[in-house]
Amino acid sequence: MNIPRRRFDTLVIGAGGSGLRAALQLAHAEAKVAVVSKVFPTRSHTVAAQGGINAALANVTPDNWHWHMYDTVKGGDFLGDQDAIEFMCRAAANVVVELEHAGVPFSRLDSGKIYQRPFGGQSRDFGGAQATRTCAAADRTGHAILHTLYQQNIRARSHFFDEFFAVDLLQDAQGDVLGALVIEIETGEPLIIEAKTTLIATGGAGQLFRTNTNARINTGDGMAMALRAGIPLQDMEFFQFHPTGIAGKGMLITEGARGEGGYLVNAEGERFMTRYAPHAADLASRDVVSRAIYAEVKQGRGCGPNADHVLLQVAHLGEEVIRKRLPGIREMAMTFLGIDPAKAPIPVYPTAHYTMGGIPTNRFGQVVVPVAHGEEVIPGLYAVGECACVSVHGANRLGGNSLLDIVVFGRAAGGHIIEYLAEHRYHRELSQAHVDAAVARLSRWERRGGGETVEGLRRELQGVMETYCGVFRSEEVLQEGLAKVLAIQARLDDVRLRDTSRVFNTARIEAFELENLVDLAVATVSSALGRKESRGAHSRVDFPERDDQHWLKHTLFYKQGNTLEYKPVRTKPLTVDTFPPTARVY
Ligand code: FUM
Repeated sequence: MNIPRRRFDTLVIGAGGSGLRAALQLAHAEAKVAVVSKVFPTRSHTVAAQGGINAALANVTPDNWHWHMYDTVKGGDFLGDQDAIEFMCRAAANVVVELEHAGVPFSRLDSGKIYQRPFGGQSRDFGGAQATRTCAAADRTGHAILHTLYQQNIRARSHFFDEFFAVDLLQDAQGDVLGALVIEIETGEPLIIEAKTTLIATGGAGQLFRTNTNARINTGDGMAMALRAGIPLQDMEFFQFHPTGIAGKGMLITEGARGEGGYLVNAEGERFMTRYAPHAADLASRDVVSRAIYAEVKQGRGCGPNADHVLLQVAHLGEEVIRKRLPGIREMAMTFLGIDPAKAPIPVYPTAHYTMGGIPTNRFGQVVVPVAHGEEVIPGLYAVGECACVSVHGANRLGGNSLLDIVVFGRAAGGHIIEYLAEHRYHRELSQAHVDAAVARLSRWERRGGGETVEGLRRELQGVMETYCGVFRSEEVLQEGLAKVLAIQARLDDVRLRDTSRVFNTARIEAFELENLVDLAVATVSSALGRKESRGAHSRVDFPERDDQHWLKHTLFYKQGNTLEYKPVRTKPLTVDTFPPTARVY
């Protein structure tokens, strides 16, 4: 097969906030950048981020980056790498001001400064009173940031391959990554993009679960490509369930609703969060609030005819505040539930939201893998955003830190790539064997003809993950879940595609996405089985306590043999003292 080739300095796979922030940095340095996106860039999932981006601007209450760092370390249940967390929290104010100057239409305080609202897990003075740290553009902050970054990239002449799907990374004979094999979705035609550096920015894998806040596109493609290229995935057992999805449907109702003063009630009308988090109440960290909602429902205090959700009350904020600060969630509640939150409470229940784990990186976005004597970077390969694990979120991400993560590390990776390109000026040869292996996958589904459908297997996988690898886990249930996921993996070979001569040619793409999801499901359940403690979002009913003596370490999952390894947490920050693990109460 004679496949056309294009050459660029950098291939960015994914056009969400992290990919676009990195591409912008590179384009400004006059690097030749290709951005490959399976959807039109402004449809990337960053567009759905609602509540805001954290930065200790102190526009509303006193604040500083060190308090933000403490909250992030504690929010992550002490599993986050403290050098990366310090780096992110220190950079926050600058990156937000950069966004403002790039044109992000942040909401404003009467003083004209950027509007900030309180979010969960935020404190002043290392665990004191609630802080107000989340910079917002109403409840459409991701939309504002993504559109601004896209427009700036157009202006800087980044080269976009819109609606192209990345199939696999391409390597040289040493295994260094030098681009990717992609398919143009409309025509089905393959293209090899050769690049001196490759940056994976493909987002998370919320489609692993049936009820989720994620776009349909969030199938973890970059993480799965990394696995196939022999790179392990880190901390995949930590998947965040956002406390307030629309009950039974999963769409996000922003934590900003509670930040503005909304609160949760059970069937008895009780503001139950004060029993679980006496100090922070509704603004405890997400894992704590999600578990509390489960407990209320399980103990019979759920609302509705099936007693299966709780209620989010915001009506007392008044129509004006809701219209000004929370217009998006009002519209969503009216569209999907026929409820106006200015008049009636919103039924909510936890919903799969965010992949804390991912491709292991350092704070420059370089992909780092373990070797016999420690760790090594893979030259020229970078990952940023939700598909990466740097790890700033540890075992549980704080709301508002994901938009921060994507711009801080997108920018840092862009900066590092510029230095790398200055020293690596020439393209290197791809290994033909690697190209052939990737190309062979293009016809992966053509030889198949069993009775399985992509949609059927996908729904089954999502159901298995929700039932067997949800908020509460145990050895027995996870073992059963793993067996089911592996059985689904075996059935992939019997997938029959829809007749692509009569439908728009996405059938093959969806099959690739499903295969990616299945690989990530195996990684997630296996990692959850490995970790025999409860920490952050990973709650083992058979190991209910956090165990710092044995488990203050990161998990690494390898596709080859489905094996696990572990590596230490980097507890040493860059310039300040370590925050040692303490009891985590809110
Ligand atoms: O609730 C939210 O607005 C989500 C924010 C986040 O996940 O950071």
